[in-house]
Amino acid sequence: MGAIERISGPLVVAKDMLGSSMYDVVRVGNDKLIGEIIKLEGERAIIQVYEDTSGVRPGEKVVSTGKPLSVELGPGILSQIFDGVQRPLTIIKAKSGTFIRRGSDVEALDKRKKWQFHADKKIKKGTRVGEGAILGYVDETELIKHYIMVPTGINGTVQSIKSGRFTVSDTIAVVKSGSKAVKISMTQTRPVRQGARFKTKIAAEVPLVTGQRIIDTLFPVAKGGTAGIPGPFGAGKTVTLHQLAKYANASIVIYVGCGERGNEMTEVLTEFPELKDPKTGKPLMERTVLIANTSNMPVAAREASIYTGITIAEYFRDMGYDVALMADSTSRWAEAMREISTRLEEMPGEEGYPAYLPKRIADFYERAGRVETLGGPIGSVSIIGAVSPPGGDLSEPVSQGTLRVVKTFWSLDAALASSRHFPSINWLSSYSLYIGALQKWYDDNLGERFLQNRGKAMRLLQREAELKDIVQLVGEDALPDTERVLLEVGRLVRENFLRQNAYDEVDAFTSLKKQDLMMSAMLHFEEKAGEAAEKGVGTDNIMELEVVKKITRMKELKEDAVEGEVKKILLETDSQFKKLVAEHGIEEERVNS
Ligand SMILES: Nc1ncnc2c1ncn2[C@@H]1O[C@H](COP(=O)(O)OP(=O)(O)OP(=O)(O)O)[C@@H](O)[C@H]1O
Ligand SMILES: [Mg+2]
Repeated sequence: MGAIERISGPLVVAKDMLGSSMYDVVRVGNDKLIGEIIKLEGERAIIQVYEDTSGVRPGEKVVSTGKPLSVELGPGILSQIFDGVQRPLTIIKAKSGTFIRRGSDVEALDKRKKWQFHADKKIKKGTRVGEGAILGYVDETELIKHYIMVPTGINGTVQSIKSGRFTVSDTIAVVKSGSKAVKISMTQTRPVRQGARFKTKIAAEVPLVTGQRIIDTLFPVAKGGTAGIPGPFGAGKTVTLHQLAKYANASIVIYVGCGERGNEMTEVLTEFPELKDPKTGKPLMERTVLIANTSNMPVAAREASIYTGITIAEYFRDMGYDVALMADSTSRWAEAMREISTRLEEMPGEEGYPAYLPKRIADFYERAGRVETLGGPIGSVSIIGAVSPPGGDLSEPVSQGTLRVVKTFWSLDAALASSRHFPSINWLSSYSLYIGALQKWYDDNLGERFLQNRGKAMRLLQREAELKDIVQLVGEDALPDTERVLLEVGRLVRENFLRQNAYDEVDAFTSLKKQDLMMSAMLHFEEKAGEAAEKGVGTDNIMELEVVKKITRMKELKEDAVEGEVKKILLETDSQFKKLVAEHGIEEERVNS
């Protein structure tokens, strides 16, 4: 047990701390604030405190728990809202009246609630089980079976196992591990700073389908993949992450609100509980865990919230689920690192951030992946991190550190946002490195046309951008109709495919199938328009065709109506162009004769 020597914001220096280890969790001062040792100098420990340190005085005691910062995992974790150190916010609120009281000791999981545990029928007395093996399950919510796994470090033979109604701390099985009989309950704890072990990483070759057209069709992320979404103030980072949390086809969603304004988190807290799973109609919270560490909460806890989130994500991955973690915003976490580092008087790196910033960012994203778990099933963790570069300048260290590691990059654009083109993902500067890995999936599930169309759409948008540059210099009239028409079709694709309104009931989510049909119709129109322009038909005549209106409104079609409607659109495109070209031919002849 030591005593506080000095306090500097979220940092506390304690003396007489011999015997403690790096990253031990300590309780600081009379209020027993939660902290973590981040540096040891002889008998002095430097502690990062996850709670507000105002009012704490030198001389007050510091007690090490001898354990690393950990999370408690078990049934009851879903639908919860936790703070950075996994205290359930709603319960804290009820207990202390305020949003969160310092040092309050509340348990992450309800220890009294009983759950029906169904032991796996294949597991009997004498069955050999190892770390991660699934012993049975609890129907935690109507959407999710919570599998109970053999905790870390235990390998042996089952001595007993029973189904029944249990609390999370009751014994459900006994495993003889080495010479010891270990009682296994439905709770396990895992240290947050260490990635959980798994058997092997496997290729990320299935897309995380998000229902967001520009993402799924142009810049997809794989299940188990990583994506960074940098954007200046108000560019739409939060709305995009919310869209993914609502619609991405992950089984489990972990949403980490890290250092953002309280009201953004309140939106999540009020909006998410009302959302329904499109497939089952059940509340989406039943597969969601929220971690809220808002800007008015202590900065050091931002780091904890990131690690708490990813550790919970890995836990569900180990059950064989596809998990998606969204972090808004990793820049606030980096800023917390910078503040702590400055107070530690470490040698600053770029822009005052600590030299280890890129490594911390890389280590975080490194915990994503699709894996064969220790227990056998295949699970994945996808990580999507928002980045808030000041002024939108991507040359700053957090953006750069993120760019180096993520494989999908959705670059939000201030100009698009201010012209209300949402999502403001810039189609020229964004990228996805998963196309090759996902190709087989796309070919098998949607046909080869899907990726071929993607290539065509990318070329169209690039060509449009080049032509726009030319127009800036010489004016649109200088372009031949074959190129003017490209500008028009490019705009059609941007405004009616890439642009997507998150607040419109139908437009908010587009299935891959609908995306494929929409893009096919647009590209078919492009082809016909190109042919007509070649034959001398004017761009204005082409864009005045009746079918254009229908194409621009495809996004409003209900999912079950799309196929039929798009068939009609394709036929109408053909017949209207045929008529237009024929009329044009007659007109030409008349003029020529
Ligand atoms: N897909 C979308 N559809 C419709 N409107 C959107 C969409 N995305 C963003 N917006 C609009 O842009 C506004 C700002 O978006 P958002 O709050 O997500 O920005 P942000 O990048 O998170 O900003 P900050 O840097 O302040 O956190 C939203 O309130 C909304 O009006
Ligand atoms: Mg935001």
